Amino acid sequence: MTEKAKIIVDGKSYELPVVIGTEGEKGIDITNLRKETSYVTLDNGFGNTAACTSAITFLDGEKGILRYRGIPIEQLAEQSTFVETSYCLIFGRLPTRSQLGEFTKSFSRQYDLHRDMLNFFAGYPPAGHPMGLLSSMVCSLSGYYPELLKPEPTPDEIKQIAVQLLAKVNTISAYTYKKSIGQKFTAPRKDLDYIPNFLHMMFSRPGREYKIEEEVLSALRTLLILHADHEQNCSTSTVRLVGSSWANMFASISAGVCALWGPLHGGANQKVVEMLEEIHRDGGNIQKYITKAKNPDEKYRLMGFGHRVYKNFDPRATIIKRRAHELFDKMGIVDPLLDIAVKLEEAVLKDDYFAERKLYPNVDFYSGVIYKAIGIPTPMFPVMFAIGRMPGWIAHWKEMREDAESRIGRPRQIYTGETQHDFVPIDEREEAGIKK
Ligand code: CMC
Repeated sequence: MTEKAKIIVDGKSYELPVVIGTEGEKGIDITNLRKETSYVTLDNGFGNTAACTSAITFLDGEKGILRYRGIPIEQLAEQSTFVETSYCLIFGRLPTRSQLGEFTKSFSRQYDLHRDMLNFFAGYPPAGHPMGLLSSMVCSLSGYYPELLKPEPTPDEIKQIAVQLLAKVNTISAYTYKKSIGQKFTAPRKDLDYIPNFLHMMFSRPGREYKIEEEVLSALRTLLILHADHEQNCSTSTVRLVGSSWANMFASISAGVCALWGPLHGGANQKVVEMLEEIHRDGGNIQKYITKAKNPDEKYRLMGFGHRVYKNFDPRATIIKRRAHELFDKMGIVDPLLDIAVKLEEAVLKDDYFAERKLYPNVDFYSGVIYKAIGIPTPMFPVMFAIGRMPGWIAHWKEMREDAESRIGRPRQIYTGETQHDFVPIDEREEAGIKK
């Protein structure tokens, strides 16, 4: 028998269907609630609202579980590559050897940017934040490659846009960095895989080819895989909302980049390292910052702690912490920021304020120290997150557009403003001293 929920509104009882997910998650379907009762639901920050059904990523915040297309994140982080994981997220299953080969090869044809796109970089202020440039460039791809932007793209066209986006974002991101330091662009190398090609474009200079260390490659691979999707977070919901109006994939994902930029979301990795640097400059007084974060009058947060969904631990943070130690040990790096991070984590985990609110290190807490060790500057950290999240955004856009039931996103509100009053012309307002 199908499960139903009962709601009593104004003394009258209504039955609502219950939707059950494949992992047993239950949701009350309120799609017709307003039609039947004239009531809407109010859910600040969508903490309790499923905006859609989705078959891409499962996470259980209480148990610290994260799976892409059913595969545990720990296994993907250890055994997969970023391109293989991207394929799995976008197309729903792990690729065969020949599918993976064809997918990888299709990237190499797309790394180059349109010649005219380079003018964009020239016009952007060198000190401007790289996320502003990344978002603009992603959106501008729609102008340079309009041939695929049909209102109803075929599966093959969607695949081509996805490949174009993944490949070009690799190049755009590296060029964004080169622009910020005033260096000549390093052209992509089509013989290299995705991450080596990125490192090459970031760090090779005329006459000096960057030597790619296996440890760096492996740490970056893990980070990108861990960032690849996280179901209906702020930026992914933005991509879906923008895409729900049938805006093209470039435009929708450009909006996702902007949503990710915020310090409460993907911008947190930059803020974590800035916070650790501040604590370091301030003599390493961790308690001072913990006290500040606990004081409601300060409006100060410990960046890299807390998560809307994870309430015991963030499985990504556990993997990243281990990776950070491995990288530092193998490369003989000594960075006081890693020590401060470890001590801050230990102190926070013992503190009742954080325990009561279930605030644990999140994915952004240790990722910044790894990026820093690789030589990536802090303003580029959110860009790294965006490169990683690209396949997730593509997968969600694709899933939504392929879903025959999908409708334009259009939330309701509860109006709390002025009730009706008449317009008063300006002369009369002045004369009467009326303010509104
Ligand atoms: N430091 C100090 N207090 C905090 C923190 C923090 N980092 N995070 C939450 N709190 C407190 C908050 O003040 C509130 O306290 P009270 O109940 O006394 O008012 C309580 O914990 C609940 O916080 P909330 O803001 O209602 O929680 P949320 O689910 O809306 O926000 C969050 C989640 C991630 C935005 C938040 O924890 C935060 O701002 N963390 C710092 C920024 C950060 O690290 N963001 C990266 C998130 S992981 C990457 C991603 O997926 O985006």
